[in-house]
Amino acid sequence: MIKVNKLVNKNFISSFDISSQEVHHILELAKNFKSKDFNINLQGKVLGLIFDKSSTRTRVSFQVAMARLGGTTIDLNPTTSQIGRGEPIRDTARVLSRYCDVLAIRTFKQSVLEEYAKWATIPVINALTDLEHPCQALADFLTIKEEFGELKGKVVSYIGDGNNVANSLIICGALLGVEVRIACPKGYEPNSFLLDKASKINDNKSLLKITNDPSCASLDANVLYTDVWSSMGEENQKEQKDKEFNGFAIDSNLLSKAAKDAIVLHCLPAYRDKEITDEVIESKNSRIFEQAENRLHVQQALLSCLLY
Ligand code: CP
Ligand code: NVA
Repeated sequence: MIKVNKLVNKNFISSFDISSQEVHHILELAKNFKSKDFNINLQGKVLGLIFDKSSTRTRVSFQVAMARLGGTTIDLNPTTSQIGRGEPIRDTARVLSRYCDVLAIRTFKQSVLEEYAKWATIPVINALTDLEHPCQALADFLTIKEEFGELKGKVVSYIGDGNNVANSLIICGALLGVEVRIACPKGYEPNSFLLDKASKINDNKSLLKITNDPSCASLDANVLYTDVWSSMGEENQKEQKDKEFNGFAIDSNLLSKAAKDAIVLHCLPAYRDKEITDEVIESKNSRIFEQAENRLHVQQALLSCLLY
């Protein structure tokens, strides 16, 4: 029977916080949780959820994951707690550390999350920032592994904005030794510091490809992946970005360039017929709802490795 290994780092605020072996371990544990071959008991453990932005999948998958493990969650809504009043993070983090066992935080700046992690004495999880979405990347690779069995040799092509989802996909892909291609309009490339750091993992440079040509990136790819063109907090750029991302939608034409058995992913929520056509979301190639389900199994695995 599989056993839970504790993560070396206390926090999971970036995909860089875990090693290649730890990613493999989380994916294996998640698979066991999914098949119901395995469970652990986290009775009495409490997860605090601080969400400065909306969420369906991340929030609910954390709540259900904790329930399945026998623990509980507290919704620390910033507008009804003193967080919204502007209580200093260093105070909130130290107080919550005396009540809760782990915090999952969704906010804008990565530096806010880092400040929580600095002052908290309990693990802090990144539930999405403007820079990264590391829990999402774990679910993405679980979905890809389920489909193809083996990750090595697979090509994952992300078409769209070089945003938080793309950044974590790149890092997690580098940890797993998977080829990740990013196709984005000029000026919307992923974070250059993270790109540089990811390219140094396992000497990963040759497996990481950035282009401005979606067709070229899609050629014989095993996975086509996209996300919204304007993320939460970028609402005022919507009109401009919609123009600049013209030609970057995943449609049946782009899908026809990928490998015959290619799958399509989207972290959701989607704008149908914008970054991805309705037809592709509903196609036989789509694994978008399996991917959403896998958020739950991965959260169970992650919480186990942080708390058990
Ligand atoms: N994919 C994802 O993080 O979705 P939510 O914004 O609904 O949590
Ligand atoms: N890039 C998107 C992902 C939402 C899950 C955003 O940050 O809004």
